[in-house]
Amino acid sequence: MKITVVGSGYVGLVTGACLAEMGNHVICLDLDDAKIRVLRDGQLPIHEPGLLEVVRRNVEASRLEFTADTDAAIRHGTFQFIAVGTPQGEDGAADLRHVLAAARAIGERMTDYKVIVDKSTVPVGTADQVRATIDAALAERSVALDYAVVSNPEFLKEGAAVDDFMRPDRIVVGADDERAILLMRALYAPFIRNHDRLQLMDVRSAEFTKYAANAMLATRISFMNELALLAEKVGADIEQVRRGIGSDPRIGTHFLYAGAGYGGSCFPKDVKALLRTGQAHGHDLYVLDAVERANERQKQVLAAKVVARFGEDLQGRRFALWGLAFKPGTDDMREAPSRVLIAELLARGAEVVAYDPVAMDEAKRLLGDAPRLRYADSAVAALEGADALVLVTEWREFKSPDFDAIRTRLRAPVVFDGRNLFEPALMRSLGIEYHAIGLAT
Ligand code: UGA
Repeated sequence: MKITVVGSGYVGLVTGACLAEMGNHVICLDLDDAKIRVLRDGQLPIHEPGLLEVVRRNVEASRLEFTADTDAAIRHGTFQFIAVGTPQGEDGAADLRHVLAAARAIGERMTDYKVIVDKSTVPVGTADQVRATIDAALAERSVALDYAVVSNPEFLKEGAAVDDFMRPDRIVVGADDERAILLMRALYAPFIRNHDRLQLMDVRSAEFTKYAANAMLATRISFMNELALLAEKVGADIEQVRRGIGSDPRIGTHFLYAGAGYGGSCFPKDVKALLRTGQAHGHDLYVLDAVERANERQKQVLAAKVVARFGEDLQGRRFALWGLAFKPGTDDMREAPSRVLIAELLARGAEVVAYDPVAMDEAKRLLGDAPRLRYADSAVAALEGADALVLVTEWREFKSPDFDAIRTRLRAPVVFDGRNLFEPALMRSLGIEYHAIGLAT
């Protein structure tokens, strides 16, 4: 089938590449020439495990193309996936400028039946706005054409995106047009051959499902983080509590990990956008409001622990920081807890020596030449002469680190662990002073 993907960012690229992998002919459009050049050179503008191979294979087979030519791209696809960014607007609501510009571009050029698929995370009611925009563009051209607008939110996780797309838990399709439903079913059939995981619903419910899922996941995390802080005060260990409650199937084991606060491009933005939707409808979301506040507090927790241990004034102190990305498997630092920690440590006069397996270029780009912020070539090199190690992201290579190096290269063996990677008893036996989340010290 012929597919156009408007927007070659994270979601657009993964969607385009994985649909091409199943034999479809996909053209990915992006207005950013530089990005298109990078993609045509066989490189990726983002770090995502496994994606480069899929892209290269399908480019080679001429099933996947990249272009900045809007006319050619829109002419191509029966499916027009809109996968452009929906950044946070000034008031917290999702900014639909790019989505509606894509809709307009499609409306201005389409000449036959198209299924326009909203893949970007968009608030309830956006499909209606997309339709109105296309209708207006068609009216200006004085043409009448049949088309459908479908909501098909994306649930993939950064770092596992290819796998999530190829083996989805569910595919949510919000549609009310019979022809579009048939086409969407055919498009996704290869991904759900053995189980019918396509959930068909009305358009507004599909749009809402995306926010509901992220809000629910963010709620679990914030709730665990809140319990973790209390566990420290009452002398309990949140890791044992997590196992204790997670074994109840009604609660389940996923997304119960206390940590340094959730980050990334999705949870913080989607939580804010849903809060705004609530306000816009005169319905305050009390629980979600608390979820956001708890997360803001949680992002300060590592710095607060450092201050509690070393004092308010950190001049002359040096800290090794392991992990800059908001989570492992990505170089994405959007809303990363590491940024809050770095800002706090630097503001208090400390020196920070950071290491991340993939996000250091991104950190340099975002944080620039901050005084007293340096980067190390390896995890062990970051430790040299530091007063303590602060672990922020649970990259695999940090899970069984060189404990001898931690003991001998730091000035004194002090570890702050924002991801609870180590057994407290082991750290005690190694003579390492260990400060974790939700663990009384
Ligand atoms: C999230 C959702 O998990 C995806 O289902 C969704 O499709 C995506 O947003 C999106 O809307 O596009 P992602 O932001 O890539 O995916 O990352 P997650 O793995 O969900 O992690 C988000 C944050 O929560 C990270 O900072 C992570 O460290 C934190 N987290 C996660 C915890 O602190 N504890 C946990 O138990 C799980």
